Amino acid sequence: MIAQSFIRDLINRVDIVGVVERHVPLKKAGANYVARCPFHSEKTPSFTVSPGKQFYHCFGCGAHGNAIDFVIEQTGMGFAEAVRDLAASVGMKVVEDKPDAPRRKREEDVDLPAIMLQAAQYYKSELKHSETAIAYLKNRGLTGEIAAHFGIGYAPPGWQNLASVFSNYQDKALLAAGLVKENEEGRRYDIFRDRIVFPIWNERGTIIGFGGRVLDSGASIDKAQEGPKYLNSPETPLFEKGRELYGLFQARKAIREAGKVVVVEGYMDVVALAQHGIGYAVATLGTATTGMHVQKLLRHADDVVFCFDGDEAGQRAAWRALENSLPQITDGKNISFLFLPQGEDPDSFVRKNGTAGFEKLLGEALPLSAFLLRELSARVDLKSQEGRARFLQSARPLVSKIIAPALGLMLRKRLAELAGVSQSELEALYQIKLQARPQAPQKYARKAPSLARKLLRLLLYQPQLAANFDAVLPDSPQGEFQALKQLLEFLCDDPHLQNHAVIIEFFRGTAHEALLREVGRELFMWDEKKLGEEDMAREFAGALDQLRELERHAKIDALRSKSEREELTSEEKRQYQQLLKREPVTAEERESGAI
Ligand code: UTP
Ligand code: MN
Repeated sequence: MIAQSFIRDLINRVDIVGVVERHVPLKKAGANYVARCPFHSEKTPSFTVSPGKQFYHCFGCGAHGNAIDFVIEQTGMGFAEAVRDLAASVGMKVVEDKPDAPRRKREEDVDLPAIMLQAAQYYKSELKHSETAIAYLKNRGLTGEIAAHFGIGYAPPGWQNLASVFSNYQDKALLAAGLVKENEEGRRYDIFRDRIVFPIWNERGTIIGFGGRVLDSGASIDKAQEGPKYLNSPETPLFEKGRELYGLFQARKAIREAGKVVVVEGYMDVVALAQHGIGYAVATLGTATTGMHVQKLLRHADDVVFCFDGDEAGQRAAWRALENSLPQITDGKNISFLFLPQGEDPDSFVRKNGTAGFEKLLGEALPLSAFLLRELSARVDLKSQEGRARFLQSARPLVSKIIAPALGLMLRKRLAELAGVSQSELEALYQIKLQARPQAPQKYARKAPSLARKLLRLLLYQPQLAANFDAVLPDSPQGEFQALKQLLEFLCDDPHLQNHAVIIEFFRGTAHEALLREVGRELFMWDEKKLGEEDMAREFAGALDQLRELERHAKIDALRSKSEREELTSEEKRQYQQLLKREPVTAEERESGAI
């Protein structure tokens, strides 16, 4: 383990401008440097490096991080390797934690990523010992190389194998990691038993969950006993299915090289395509495609192809993906839809028709607008007035979700043609202003931030504000408050040493990493508004007032509900009166305090 303090010193020593410049020529622009983004293809530079924050940020694709992130993303190195590389570049010697040194307390000392990694290593080594599991994978056309590339493993039969892997099988962390379950008597058992195990990584290379497949070895299997064909990890602090894509971590380089990403439905589809040299495929995790998925996909490639089975379920899934794509697509991006022949999935198709056959099919994918028009016109009779009216009516809510000005315009034009009206008639009907609608503020839609989020932002921006924090945090299970609590603890340790880039390191690999990175991205958008230090201090003071209000209300509620059960002591009654005396909260306070 590399010592946390060393990582902080390293971040404070290296200069991100120099680190980036080794790979990308930078141009000075005001306080920052800009370049064409190395992580997506673009003509005008939207990649920004801030020497003040020691962060890079791409306004085009959302790539965002500190010097360590840059090295990882640019070179494909792992975390430790990237740290060593950076350390060498400034002549620092890496300091390791002594194995018995007390580790910094975080996540109540639960290190979920380490647990997931240990489980994955166990499943992987078990695969080596199971002839049946190896035979199953071979039979599905996989080489050992591809199995290793995806870290595929095997969970042997038996109810408590993990007891031999983890020193304390009763540790609550194993439950939190979603590796074991408890029956009604509180007895624990492993979730994955006698299954091929597919580890699921997040974008940053942390194992966050597993998918487990039964080995359907013959007709003799008892379905009821075996459970579903695929069993997935439950959602945990690390694993949120609607956000994650299977195979994305392994596919990043191939996606960048191909300029496109294919989205399929199954784990085996991703693996089989990679086996055939198509490394740019990812899969949703047994859930519908969400807006978050689309956002992530568009961040990695300009071309996104959804590939669905030819059956009715596939059509339905494709329509959902289309609906969730409309608010995300921007001009210059392509989203298209591919339907496989009945009874085929990408795995079976590529095995039958080979790499070239699959690539040919990709070339024939239906663009989003064509798919939309085809579906809508198939539902009505365009030859009748009523049919055309229904056509326009059903298209309206979909068209209004599109934020890409040019795409929206073309689509409305085509709708008008199909319905036999002029474009101005259609615009009048839809009441869409003819001038281009403003592009939505990139992908990070600005919602009114919750109180906790606002505080996270302010503290990321000006860590020294932590010294003025004098309110009580509500006892909320909400992730944002938990993250805020940890950030405050961290900042209070040694406030003078902290900056945005160091803070992100502190949260790397924890459950709150994704949140902190999201807030960090928002910060760059926010920066545009050029809030001065005074405004910032005022916002901070305002947020603290809101926290105090929350605390007051919690106390009032507690006393009130106590009074319903028993007589309050005279001291409590006095307190209650005192608490009520504070001016009623303003509407604004109430609104932003409502969390
Ligand atoms: P499929 O059954 O199409 O998966 O389900 P597949 O990858 O083609 O399966 P095989 O191995 O070739 O037979 C697609 C996806 O839906 C989810 C999984 O994520 C799977 O990869 N799924 C499917 C489940 O979560 N549970 C199930 O029981 C079945
Ligand atoms: Mn399949």
